[in-house]
Amino acid sequence: MAYIDESVRPGEPLSGFDLSGLRAVVTGAGRGIGRSAASALATAGAEVVAVDIDGDTLLDSVARMRAEGNKVIAQAADLRHAQEVQALRSLVDELGGVSILINAAGVIRRASSLDAGLQHLDEVWSVNVRGLYAVTQELLPALVQSGAGSIINVGSLGSVLGLKDRAAYAATKGAVRQYTQSLAVDLGPAHVRANTIAPGYIATEMNRDWLANDPAQRERLLERVPLGRLGSPDDLAGTFVYLASPASAYVTGQTIIVDGGWTAS
Ligand SMILES: NC(=O)c1ccc[n+]([C@@H]2O[C@H](COP(=O)([O-])OP(=O)(O)OC[C@H]3O[C@@H](n4cnc5c(N)ncnc54)[C@H](O)[C@@H]3O)[C@@H](O)[C@H]2O)c1
Repeated sequence: MAYIDESVRPGEPLSGFDLSGLRAVVTGAGRGIGRSAASALATAGAEVVAVDIDGDTLLDSVARMRAEGNKVIAQAADLRHAQEVQALRSLVDELGGVSILINAAGVIRRASSLDAGLQHLDEVWSVNVRGLYAVTQELLPALVQSGAGSIINVGSLGSVLGLKDRAAYAATKGAVRQYTQSLAVDLGPAHVRANTIAPGYIATEMNRDWLANDPAQRERLLERVPLGRLGSPDDLAGTFVYLASPASAYVTGQTIIVDGGWTAS
């Protein structure tokens, strides 16, 4: 084999962030991190299939993106239900395939490990791992078919660290990271990349009450963030677009931590 494989053309490096002509599926797109990711991809030119269990927030989210001139399709689905995930696959097939999958849907439960029983694990596992796995399995044939697929799974600091009072949640996010790395290994030969984004503390509905009800906790968190603030969902947007685009054509199996420097301190 030649030392430099001239047949591989990942794209023009500096125009590589353009997603025009690509289609993306984004789960959890009704609000928070998923909504921001969907909007960022659409703004970069992708047609986005926005998925969420909550039909009302999803429609609101999609209406806003369309008002900005973006191409977005809403598909309500509970990722815990096989038929609804299969319906998503049918929609994607009808549309003509997909090359980007962002798995952002997720739930959290908080309790000390002493109190967090199996039901607690089942609740987070059913969405964060099983639901994510189900969507990915259904869409893998289309991602392979695209010839240049990118899967971006949303992990957490719990993908790489232990989290106080969130042991079951952290277990799911560790699993997400390991699944993603394994996807990268399995699917590299089929030209599908898979990476994890691990956000730090991002101000969304998921942790709004937790932070509002415990100001001391919020202060302790902020003291450990070198950039001195909580993240906003839009702080992740550039990383989503980068990992979705040809600009990251040689990046797979990685976990990119976007945490304002939390893990550096
Ligand atoms: N906010 C943070 O600080 C933070 C940090 C690290 C990781 N994360 C992860 O980021 C992702 C998005 O979280 P967020 O902060 O935007 O939370 P969020 O609660 O605002 O959004 C989660 C979205 O997922 C949807 N969803 C939940 N269960 C679903 C199901 N069964 N089927 C389909 N959709 C479902 C919800 O309706 C909601 O729109 C999650 O995976 C979360 O674990 C968040």
